Amino acid sequence: MKQISTFEDYLQQYQLSIEEPEAFWAEVADDFVWSKKWASVLEWNFAEPSVKWFSGAFTNLSENCIDRHLETRGNQTAIIWEPNDPNESFKTLTYKELHTEVCRFANVLKNLGVKQGDRVCIYLPMIPEAAIAMLACARIGAIHSVVFAGFSSSSLSDRINDSQCLLLITADAVYRGEKKIDLKKIADDALTQTPSIKNCIVYNHRNTEISMLPERDLWWHNLVKDVSAECPPLQVEAETPLFILYTSGSTGKPKGVLHTTAGYMVYAGYTFLNVFNYREGEVFFCTADVGWVTGHSYLVYGPLLNGATTIMFEGIPTYPDHGRFWDVVDKHRVNIFYTAPTAIRSLETYGTAIFKTKDLSSLRVLGTVGEPINEEAWHWYHQNVGKEQCPIVDTWWQTETGGILISPIAGVTPLKPSFATLPLPGVQPALLDSDGIEISGNSVEGNLCIKFPWPGMSRTVYGNHERFRQTYFSAYMGYYFTGDGCRRDENGYYRITGRVDDVINVSGHRIGTGEIEDAIDEHQSVIETAVVGFPHDVKGQGLYAFVICTGKIEDEEVLRTEIKAMVSEKIGSFARPDKIQVVPGLPKTRSGKIMRRILRKIAEGDTGNLGDTTTLLDPLVVEAIKNGAL
Ligand code: WT7
Repeated sequence: MKQISTFEDYLQQYQLSIEEPEAFWAEVADDFVWSKKWASVLEWNFAEPSVKWFSGAFTNLSENCIDRHLETRGNQTAIIWEPNDPNESFKTLTYKELHTEVCRFANVLKNLGVKQGDRVCIYLPMIPEAAIAMLACARIGAIHSVVFAGFSSSSLSDRINDSQCLLLITADAVYRGEKKIDLKKIADDALTQTPSIKNCIVYNHRNTEISMLPERDLWWHNLVKDVSAECPPLQVEAETPLFILYTSGSTGKPKGVLHTTAGYMVYAGYTFLNVFNYREGEVFFCTADVGWVTGHSYLVYGPLLNGATTIMFEGIPTYPDHGRFWDVVDKHRVNIFYTAPTAIRSLETYGTAIFKTKDLSSLRVLGTVGEPINEEAWHWYHQNVGKEQCPIVDTWWQTETGGILISPIAGVTPLKPSFATLPLPGVQPALLDSDGIEISGNSVEGNLCIKFPWPGMSRTVYGNHERFRQTYFSAYMGYYFTGDGCRRDENGYYRITGRVDDVINVSGHRIGTGEIEDAIDEHQSVIETAVVGFPHDVKGQGLYAFVICTGKIEDEEVLRTEIKAMVSEKIGSFARPDKIQVVPGLPKTRSGKIMRRILRKIAEGDTGNLGDTTTLLDPLVVEAIKNGAL
């Protein structure tokens, strides 16, 4: 693949990609392995919406990630696994070894009756088996649905049921820092509610005592023992579904965002190579969990497509101490480091003394993802981690976009702290005003949309195409609506200002207010809830819940603890509200709509100017909420 080498080159490539998108992407796609080339590069309309890239072509993603490297770099390390406990030894898998493991596990899946198009749920910690399971699914045309191992049993069963998975892959347990998570136990609870699941494969990671249901539950190590290490990659048509990944929106249950094979592959491969300016033989460390899209595109698929060495880190940034990331960088001579602003901000609170003892000289490029990065955190990262030598790529994208859309290109794009800067080739952003009119020119702000397809974009919401259309293509006709607000500065640089819908970004985790409200409402004393975000120094945004209760609450502290436990049980502990205020009522309009604008102001502590409250059904309720604000 051609790599963008200078800013001039970027401008030229960008121009070409806009004028002749099909020729541009056909050339990029030429560098992948196809058993049959496409009949057409792109067919699309955003009304249905229907988007097809490389229609008629046949390929296999796992072949592109593994097989094609065997001859040139079979003995090179593909994956380095760094355990939670630094005293345990790390593990590596070469491309050859990865090939063997993936083929074996693909054969296991086949033996259990998994066929092309079947859904396989992966609920695993950060261990190589997660990548092996994903690649094995891709090898046989099965659709993987990875569920982050921090989700609760009911979140897991909801996701399994929504896409009718027939297999669940999990592990006995995992340690994250000092905390043990009993994955199989959580899975067992979920499995009481999931009739579509025929088998559960369990990887013995920590030798924990667990219960195994005869016939249904099978040990990974037994299954792979006697199967062949050969499994030809199934050639699938370009638009064959590759994976489902659930993500939260403003309303309703999480959506199963569906990505298809060829477009996703081309986009993940191209953006990894260019955004990070990846160079042959480099070590890449993405700290995201495989349970999120960053883990899919830039921990597993993007790096492997490019024959890179990718690090999979099982632990957390603060265990055994707050120098852990830098120990990993030092130990494995990491060249490119990609993390979330929330991690940077949390490490910032410990000071910089730790850096004196770590050798970070291998680092060449730094990246951030998941939320806006404030200038202070940007400079801290740039100075202490990058020693003012490493460009920082602030990469803006979403689960739905499959890969990075707006970002500097490392070493190429002039940087501006807290700006995602410029669109990548093939990406056509537009800012729209509230009347749906595209705002032209610079120094403007609006709702961020994309007006032309790119290969990595999601094709549908699994099992609900109408919801896909409604959510992303109905707000502005002819545009993909991102849900983000955005400013374009005087030089045409983009700065993402945050969500304009009811989605809250807590530590880079995307959470729908509705989901949390539903969970809290299940508490027996709660009548109604409204959750809003508020600025939080480390998490970016924190969660503030206003709850109306039945009768008088004896002990509000007990109630708060119970509500938090409720949210942990229904969603996962990362979604627990930071603040819970018992209120006599909620500010509602005469038509019954909660005025979240007012609640957001109160949560921010900005009660001086609440704006117009005259349309409220009961303006007095605002005073009461203000007086009790936390
Ligand atoms: C939302 C998408 C993309 C992988 C991780 C999150 C926010 C993401 C940035 C950034 C400002 C960002 C947006 C977006 N976001 N990257 N560089 N600057 N905001 O994926 O869970 O689908 O969340 O994260 O609000 O819409 P996700």
